[in-house]
Amino acid sequence: MTRVSAQNLSRRHTSASSLLSPSLTATVMRGLTDSVKTLPAVLFYDSAGAMLFEQICDQPEYYPTRTEIDILSRYASDLARQAGDHVALIEYGSGAGVKVRYLLDKLRDPVAYIPVDVSREQLASVARERGGQYPGLRIAPVCADYTLPFELPVLPNEARRVAFFPGSTIGNFHPTEAAAFLHRIRHTVGAKGGLILGVDRRKDPRVLHEAYNDRAGVTAAFNLNMLAHLNHAMSANFDLTTFRHVAFFNNEASRIEMHLESLVEQEVLVNDTRVYFEAGETVHTECSYKYDEQTLHALVESSGFAIDSLYSDVNDWFYLAWLRPA
Ligand code: AVI
Repeated sequence: MTRVSAQNLSRRHTSASSLLSPSLTATVMRGLTDSVKTLPAVLFYDSAGAMLFEQICDQPEYYPTRTEIDILSRYASDLARQAGDHVALIEYGSGAGVKVRYLLDKLRDPVAYIPVDVSREQLASVARERGGQYPGLRIAPVCADYTLPFELPVLPNEARRVAFFPGSTIGNFHPTEAAAFLHRIRHTVGAKGGLILGVDRRKDPRVLHEAYNDRAGVTAAFNLNMLAHLNHAMSANFDLTTFRHVAFFNNEASRIEMHLESLVEQEVLVNDTRVYFEAGETVHTECSYKYDEQTLHALVESSGFAIDSLYSDVNDWFYLAWLRPA
């Protein structure tokens, strides 16, 4: 088993390319100078972070990816039947667009596949690949941040808009933001549309703890990479060896929390601002909410949808929900 070391990460990262927008820069500075320090989870996903996330999905302890694929492979026909004919399938955050194939294989006479993602390169490669695999299917990629309003391509009148938001990424939104986001999807798909949503379930805290503290140290490297990203993108001088990854289940809030803990008292320069850390002080980097049936119902109902069908796995670890407009 290879452990990913912080020093390797730091070195590997000196050639990263992204620089942050003014609003993200302001969010970072606000988060680092607050009395309780926070950093936005979007900072995980520079090119090194995106690769580490792919590796997380392959870790034996990280069950969500393989469990969702297992549910999809078993219930794709049911989902396709509920979606009906002439579906325009809109995938939010399509990434490599792997999971959608289970649906595209089963849909009857779909009119379009619309992958939505910020990465232009990934969209181009998904469009090329799916175009080759589903000849005759219109592939209409949209390059956008799916958390903000975006324009859909013009669709034929008979098209039924069905959104697909897998991966349990809904869990990374605070519940009130999750409701607002689902509400926007509800508006996008219209009164005749639908949403296929992947949701991670509340479960034995030991299973959750292991999933976010894998033995190979990949999740730790993913978390620490946020500091390497800031070193590059905001001329910061974080020494990654002086921080450690912390992840635990907050039972009351029903969420995994990820933090970075400073091992020593230190000052770090970020964009010419001195940021002071006490030894043991943490920066909160991510929440990953876990839902049970009751909290999921409440979320869905507050966003203008209703749960039509809930599919799960043998362990009851993950939901794939078919939602219809309420
Ligand atoms: C993307 N998202 C659903 C992942 C999760 O499980 O909340 C991100 C992640 N963070 C640590 N491991 C994976």
